[in-house]
Amino acid sequence: MGEATYPPLIEGDGLTLRPWDAALIQQMAAWREHGFPYHAFDLSHLADPLQAAAALARTREEGRHRYFVACEGDTAVGRVSVNLQDAAGLYLWAVHVPPEHQGRGVARRMLTAVMGWLEETCPGRDFVLTSNSFAERAHRTYRALGFEIIETRWHFDREIAERLWRVAPAEREPIARHIRFQNGRWQVRAHVFRRRQGAAARAEAVARAS
Ligand SMILES: CC(C)(COP(=O)(O)OP(=O)(O)OC[C@H]1O[C@@H](n2cnc3c(N)ncnc32)[C@H](O)[C@@H]1OP(=O)(O)O)[C@@H](O)C(=O)NCCC(=O)NCCS
Repeated sequence: MGEATYPPLIEGDGLTLRPWDAALIQQMAAWREHGFPYHAFDLSHLADPLQAAAALARTREEGRHRYFVACEGDTAVGRVSVNLQDAAGLYLWAVHVPPEHQGRGVARRMLTAVMGWLEETCPGRDFVLTSNSFAERAHRTYRALGFEIIETRWHFDREIAERLWRVAPAEREPIARHIRFQNGRWQVRAHVFRRRQGAAARAEAVARAS
């Protein structure tokens, strides 16, 4: 059940997007970690067979989300998910390339591939994503692909808030201007990005990829 909701494979520039499977989950569980404040993306908990099975089942549920792993050959190099039913648009989330595969354009090629598939299957809808304002590297990626910031807001990010209670003040320092303590809670500043369907990627990204 569930596999029918996925396309067979999405071919991109030097990579293929596949649905999650048990072997890919094992690879993702062994990815190197980003640590604070990006630890929400880290997947070492998937080394636990019960958590791996639960995660796989979740990705196969019929419903609004689709979960992809970007593969170069048989090697998992990134992941991205999309909510097909958000009122704001086609909502991309969990854009994640582990440290050992960063800096080679995996995120740009992976996002280009998933947006190409979505433009065919869900024509006319905008792409939307939210990114904490300290994630400057990610913002370079999104801007290069034609995304623009449409809103900036303070929000409660449970995982980061829980971590902020526990980390030493010195660890908070690099993101100090992106966080605030308000009404008894830690909050994080976040940008909402939007890309209209068919919007061009910025010229230098296109030139580099060709
Ligand atoms: C943010 C993140 C997804 C970026 O992944 P990435 O694969 O390194 O990003 P990109 O695809 O943009 O590539 C990075 C660099 O590779 C270069 N590159 C190399 N080959 C390339 C190619 N064929 N095409 C495009 N760029 C290429 C780019 O020039 C880019 O450098 P630049 O930013 O100086 O221009 C990754 O760092 C990550 O997972 N971080 C932690 C989690 C996170 O922050 N996620 C986003 C939350 S909203």
